[in-house]
Amino acid sequence: MSRVETLLAAMTLEEKIGQLNMATADRVVTGPVLPGDTEAGIRSGRIGCMLNLWGAEPARAIQRMAVEETRLGIPLLLGFDVVHGHRTIFPIPLAEAAAFDAALWERTARVAAVEAAEDGIAMTFAPMLDVTRDPRWGRIAEGPGEDPWLASRFAEAKVRGFQGDDLSAATSVAASAKHFLAYGAPTGGRDYASVDVSDRALHEVYLPPFQAALAAGCATVMPGFNDIAGIPMTAHVPLLRHWLRGQAGFDGVVVSDYNAIAELIRHGVASDLVEAAALALKAGVDIDMMSSAYARGLSTALERGLVEIGEIDAAALRVLTLKEQLGLFDDPYRRGASSATAGSYEAAARRELAREAACRAIVVLTNSGLLPLAAKSRRIAVVGPLANARAEMRGSWSAAGEPDDPVTILEGLRAALPGSEIVFAEGVAIDGEDVRGVAEAVAACRAADVIVLCLGEAAWMSGEAASRANPVLPGRQRQLAEAVLDLGKPVVALLSCGRPLIAPWLEERAGALVATWFLGSEAGNAIADVLTGRFNPTGRLPITWPRDIGQAPIFYAARSSGRPNNPKDHYTSKYLDMPVEPQFPFGHGLSYSPLALENLSVGAEKFQAGEDVLASVDVVNQGAIAGEATIFLFIRDVVASVARPLLELKGLAKITLAPGARENVRLPVPASAFAFPNAEFQPTIEPGRFELSVGLSADRTRLLTVSIEAIVD
Ligand code: BGC
Repeated sequence: MSRVETLLAAMTLEEKIGQLNMATADRVVTGPVLPGDTEAGIRSGRIGCMLNLWGAEPARAIQRMAVEETRLGIPLLLGFDVVHGHRTIFPIPLAEAAAFDAALWERTARVAAVEAAEDGIAMTFAPMLDVTRDPRWGRIAEGPGEDPWLASRFAEAKVRGFQGDDLSAATSVAASAKHFLAYGAPTGGRDYASVDVSDRALHEVYLPPFQAALAAGCATVMPGFNDIAGIPMTAHVPLLRHWLRGQAGFDGVVVSDYNAIAELIRHGVASDLVEAAALALKAGVDIDMMSSAYARGLSTALERGLVEIGEIDAAALRVLTLKEQLGLFDDPYRRGASSATAGSYEAAARRELAREAACRAIVVLTNSGLLPLAAKSRRIAVVGPLANARAEMRGSWSAAGEPDDPVTILEGLRAALPGSEIVFAEGVAIDGEDVRGVAEAVAACRAADVIVLCLGEAAWMSGEAASRANPVLPGRQRQLAEAVLDLGKPVVALLSCGRPLIAPWLEERAGALVATWFLGSEAGNAIADVLTGRFNPTGRLPITWPRDIGQAPIFYAARSSGRPNNPKDHYTSKYLDMPVEPQFPFGHGLSYSPLALENLSVGAEKFQAGEDVLASVDVVNQGAIAGEATIFLFIRDVVASVARPLLELKGLAKITLAPGARENVRLPVPASAFAFPNAEFQPTIEPGRFELSVGLSADRTRLLTVSIEAIVD
């Protein structure tokens, strides 16, 4: 018998259930406190896992309680949401996705893991892999955007970064792929609302990122709060037990979302905690986060025959095995022992990485030539409620990041432009009706050569429980912006946001429009780097940016329909009151060096189905400075047994080009890129014609396309 099996054999039922029970620590100014009878729960073995407790000292103290003061001395599993950095805050995931850079995603996750582990944490509830196509949903900020291929690459990179090469290392934390499944498609974009998507959408859109996370060795999975067509994910036997445990062969830990097991009662599938506990356990949920349904209901469920002891044993064994894999039995104090990680990532290097990630996340949406700011811009007015909003720069889920840590936009610009006279006026608050500051802000702008207008959302306006029916600029920011724009001076508008904000009027009037999202600790410095041209922007939209919320859900990988949009034909798929095209397509983003693609070719017009294809394209830097191109590769299966999307992202390449340079770039297309789920949802490649396109975004009017044919001998 293995160490954990021996341990399991020695455990009482209560102790086994204790391993499945995750409780929380509260936090006050001085640090963590344990609510109610938590200490007693730990000492008696009734609590085996904790969340929201961090800090080397408190972690050691509570671990000591579990290891030295319980009958069996089993260490606690300490989990925490390290969604985009821990102490050092990186850009929110949606922003980081805009970097289209798997190596960067991995590096930031690695640093986050090191910092979290330094604080005693062994497990993070990340990466969040919810593909979403609806900017009303606030949690769009937490995930990698609209595309399953992109989300899959994000998933792998994050899992590698968090878990490192060896889960037991003092700098590794167990990752949790969440929220399984389709949580990003709630009805009306309203958080926690019911989801009703097709099996096809599950297989084509929502499952792939989780498959990628599992393939990368992700240690844990968290089901979402949502139901799919009436079956809550926390009790979803077909997806959790049959697909995840069965088909995908996942034998790691499934951890419920916060209170989600008890919420099975509100969903209307269980009448009490006993039934709720039984449903979740039978579906394959191991850890009960915060609902105490397992603690209070599982032994009764066993007595009533609703669950079997073998199911409780299997769940407890999975939790013990994870603790074993994390090295907790060998040394429960290795995370949080400062000597273990000291020096591995110096503070300066962490800040440098945060700045690089933030630079790479920024997306220049429009630029009439105003950017980069001319060196002769002597007088700059920095105006708006996000200009000096330090704490907001962190965005949602800012983990253990301190509110006074981030660099503001104003500070960043002042540091970057010491020779300029920079005046600041807030104008209006982020939200609310008070416009008394508008006149002062306009006055501050009168003498300026250029105005940097800092608009957007507060951090809390995106993230969990932050759906917005109409994601426009909140409060009276539009009034401020229009008053400033009326001066007729050059205006660079920045949008701090956790989602695409709808503001087509701003695009029309501002000389440049930049999505600066929530960029984290180094926000202001990175924004200054991009505005001054110290960094030639490379960020590209990981999400389609609508012109009106009435277009949601909106995404590039749409199917044709039998009546594709034709403005000249009434009976086609379109709106009467606006174009169907978005404000900005997926992949859009400008650099200061205009880039172009030419001469797309593939090895041969025909290829054997099941073989890889190699595409090749010339990239030209038409600008006067070096620039980085992101080249997207899409395919379309023109005729298939199931109608395929007009474009599907299947690869990308990045290349840095000297001014005026032309380089040939090769894009390998693996055979699997031509496969799609057939009627039985098995991956299949059907012979026939495919279109292979490359572009600098998903704008279909600007792609280079070749036609190739898959043949079967
Ligand atoms: C969120 C999860 C998170 C958990 C623990 C829940 O409300 O949905 O994403 O991991 O809280 O903080």
